[in-house]
Amino acid sequence: MRNVVLLGPPGAGKGTIAVRVAKEAGLLHLSTGDVLRDEVARGTELGQRARTFMERGELVPDAVVLAMVQERVKGQQGVLLDGFPRTLAQAEGLAEFLPVHVVVNLAVAKDEVVRRLGSRRVCRACGAVYNVVTQRPRTEGLCDRCGGELRQRPDDTPEVVARRYEVYEKDSRPLVEHYARQGLLKAVDAARSPDQVAADVAKILRS
Ligand code: AP5
Repeated sequence: MRNVVLLGPPGAGKGTIAVRVAKEAGLLHLSTGDVLRDEVARGTELGQRARTFMERGELVPDAVVLAMVQERVKGQQGVLLDGFPRTLAQAEGLAEFLPVHVVVNLAVAKDEVVRRLGSRRVCRACGAVYNVVTQRPRTEGLCDRCGGELRQRPDDTPEVVARRYEVYEKDSRPLVEHYARQGLLKAVDAARSPDQVAADVAKILRS
């Protein structure tokens, strides 16, 4: 069983693609963003600590995220990591408790991700992701899966998106080179439709 890292800027489609490919590949989909949002929603100690960082578009401290991931991958037989690692320190910490076998980089330009995030909607109840331009729900404003109300993510405002992208450029983009040097990197053109991107990623996971 293999462990996979999914890299890409905010809005590249990491969550969208992970949901489509993880099950078929027999991998546990672990999104650190989803886990952190759940902690915030439940008002846990971790959530209260993470909240201010997330609202500003900053990264939650490495030690906090590393401990959270380590606990969740324990005993798992293959994971698809979405949104983690995000810094070189996280990549080095991860290497101490989980081997990484393949890293998929979803490559897409800044203007496209800014457009996608501006039109993203998420289900308040189950977190399912939609887009009012490219992935519309069957009934406007309601989740296809559970009927929950759709809303904009609080960190999808133009100011916070700009900050998230800066943080990505500074802290996370260096991971592309880091994993390329290890011979683990597979680049996928993520500017195409979700079906095309998911098909390419699924093929990489099968190979
Ligand atoms: P996180 O939730 O991980 O945010 P992100 O990396 O900025 O990624 P997104 O969830 O915004 O985008 P995505 O790539 O998953 O795109 P999606 O599929 O939704 O993190 C949030 C915050 O938590 C961080 O800012 C930080 O504070 C904290 N955090 C999380 N992990 C951390 C870590 N490891 N360390 C420290 N802090 C951490 O798609 C976007 C939109 O585009 C959707 O509307 C979708 O429908 C649409 N779309 C998707 N694919 C396509 C396509 N191919 N064509 C057209 N539209 C598409």
